[in-house]
Amino acid sequence: MLKPRHADSLARCFLENFPPPRPTMNSLSNKRILLGISGGIAAYKCAELTRMLIKAGATVQVVMTKAATEFITPLTMQALSGNRVHVELLDPEAEAAMSHIELARWADLILVAPATADFIARIANARADDLLSTLILASNAPIAVAPAMNQAMWANAGTQANVKQLEQRGCKLFGPAEGEQACGDVGPGRMLEPEQLVQECASLFKPGILSGLHLLITAGPTREALDPVRFISNHSSGKMAYALASEAVAAGAKVTLISGPVALATPERVTKIDVITAQDMLDACLQHYQGCDIFIGVAAVADYRPENISSEKIKKSEASLQIKLVKNPDIISEIAARDNPPFMVGFAAETSNILDFGREKLRQKNLDLLFANNATDTFNSDSIAATAIHPSGEVELGEGNKNHVARQMLKLISELLVQTRA
Ligand code: PMT
Repeated sequence: MLKPRHADSLARCFLENFPPPRPTMNSLSNKRILLGISGGIAAYKCAELTRMLIKAGATVQVVMTKAATEFITPLTMQALSGNRVHVELLDPEAEAAMSHIELARWADLILVAPATADFIARIANARADDLLSTLILASNAPIAVAPAMNQAMWANAGTQANVKQLEQRGCKLFGPAEGEQACGDVGPGRMLEPEQLVQECASLFKPGILSGLHLLITAGPTREALDPVRFISNHSSGKMAYALASEAVAAGAKVTLISGPVALATPERVTKIDVITAQDMLDACLQHYQGCDIFIGVAAVADYRPENISSEKIKKSEASLQIKLVKNPDIISEIAARDNPPFMVGFAAETSNILDFGREKLRQKNLDLLFANNATDTFNSDSIAATAIHPSGEVELGEGNKNHVARQMLKLISELLVQTRA
């Protein structure tokens, strides 16, 4: 068993706490916010609110009450959120796509902004007479309301009793602010500004170690066609890459997964791009690597492809068959050679001299980090034992389930990235 060679940066990764806290807005990275708009003049601020939530990394679905559509159009909210806006409780089109129950399950947070006195009264009384109130009843997600009303309506004992009841049920109250109101009155009842609402939403979630970061991960095997029915490939199942993708999302990252053909379900919240050949994978990587913070090459890319692909099924005629192979592009090296590449992480599955070959690949491909592993044990297995090789040291990661080891790998990557950027 290899011992850590340097008690320096790499070893510290496993001993120290990770990484310095990032700005809170990052805790919205990957979060699903259902924005409920009820019918008040402050509804116009929802355009900016949606834009800011998306900028902070959240995905936004908008549900409007009928009254809200008098103040801001569903079309505006659709254009800004990038998603169809939901208004009707009984909507055959929505039922076919995302029903109220699916929306209720989808949300990490339901934010009602603006929340009118009437809407607060309705949810305080557990009404379910429109889509938004029904959703709130049907959801286990945290609920937050941003009241917006005339100061006298806010001060009214009935409204205060309703708000108290909501708070007692765990509903968060964002605001209201004091100041001049649309009706000319001055006092409490103004909806918080979009920026304050975004901060309030962010404060409800803990930032993960990868919050605010974008990862590009290659996965699975590639297939290189010989003829219409045959190809050259390998035994990569995609399990390691998919485990990294789902753990990275859980740690707050945005993940793009460029995947060869595998039989795995796409992890939630991951954007997957399907490819077949090494050239397809390279094209997809070149199209998506810009703006990424971390590139992880887990794919077992075919190093060679047949020089010619027969358009007809190759017939069994001769005693032997010779197929000329030509070299495929080296995807990870191509990305590493670009200007301002992401933090580059490779994998190497070897059958002998695992560490020596791993070190050589780290150097040759100009990578920041590489996980060397035993090809015989890792392909299509649920577990992996890998050694992290970095220009300044090596650390052995104990054998474990691929999700467990993926968490260790991501922890290490996030620490090294912080050091690199320091
Ligand atoms: O998919 P699983 O069944 O879970 O198995 C996981 C795994 C064994 C595939 C994974 O742990 C692994 O080790 N992946 C790398 C496989 C390999 O041996 O790669 P390589 O030594 O050919 O390449 C080294 C690095 O260069 C890798 O990051 C690879 O993605 C990249 N590469 C290689 C060739 C090429 N043409 N382009 C590349 O980008």
